[in-house]
Amino acid sequence: MDPTATVRRQLLIEELRELSWLKHVEWLAETDSTNNFGRRWLASNARDLPALFVADRQTAGRGRDGSQWWSPDGCLMFTLAICASELPNDRQYWPSLSLVAGLSVADAVDSLLGHSIAQLKWPNDVFVQDRKLAGILIESSQVGQSYGNCLIGIGINVHNDWAQAPPEIQRKATCLSTIAGEGMTRESTLLEVLTQLQSRFEQWRSVPQSWHENWQRRCLLNNKLVEVRLNDQNVFSGLCLGVSESGQLLLQNELGIQKITAGEILSW
Ligand code: BTN
Repeated sequence: MDPTATVRRQLLIEELRELSWLKHVEWLAETDSTNNFGRRWLASNARDLPALFVADRQTAGRGRDGSQWWSPDGCLMFTLAICASELPNDRQYWPSLSLVAGLSVADAVDSLLGHSIAQLKWPNDVFVQDRKLAGILIESSQVGQSYGNCLIGIGINVHNDWAQAPPEIQRKATCLSTIAGEGMTRESTLLEVLTQLQSRFEQWRSVPQSWHENWQRRCLLNNKLVEVRLNDQNVFSGLCLGVSESGQLLLQNELGIQKITAGEILSW
């Protein structure tokens, strides 16, 4: 790392440690996956939460639905481990965590780019100009029958080198530098995303539907014919009416309005 980048990194870590919200911060040169690292760390340190783990490289980055996450230099990859006290008291709202996290990243992207541009593909992919900019993998460390802590793994393409990317990713993804030119750093992106996450969580705890209107406005799938594979492998299609206040995808077809709780979008 060049000396300016080292100083910038060090300053950021100090700034992060001063954010009273975060109790633990680690920036790793390499790990398998920051979500795996966070899970291992939680096994012995579950008291110091929220905790943040950032990595320069992941050797086994993971995406949703068992996919891999391409983890090149220039991609901001981190996991925020939080405990249930960050979530609304009423557990019926907990499934919206995934959407609230996506909205926070979209808010941060808009703030970094200086205008309203980020869209959300259910449940939490962040898209700009019809290309994927960021993905989120939420996992929980289960304690007995109940949720223990949550791991919010976020990957944001900041200044990726596309020449190295697999062809499918070259076709479908984008990064902040491609959209805005030079000047985008992983450090400033991280700081902005954490600020937005903290403020969205606060709002979500006091008004559990607070995320909904803004999410609907950003919904990439609105009014599109969407095909989704449910967890039981059945495939469903319908016209997208956005999401419900509990975070389900709403699809209208000949059977009426279908509420999809979990599934993978196949086409739109
Ligand atoms: C997806 O779009 O499928 C979710 C991608 C999530 C990637 C991030 S990178 C940091 C964290 N560590 C992982 O292994 N995955 C998440």
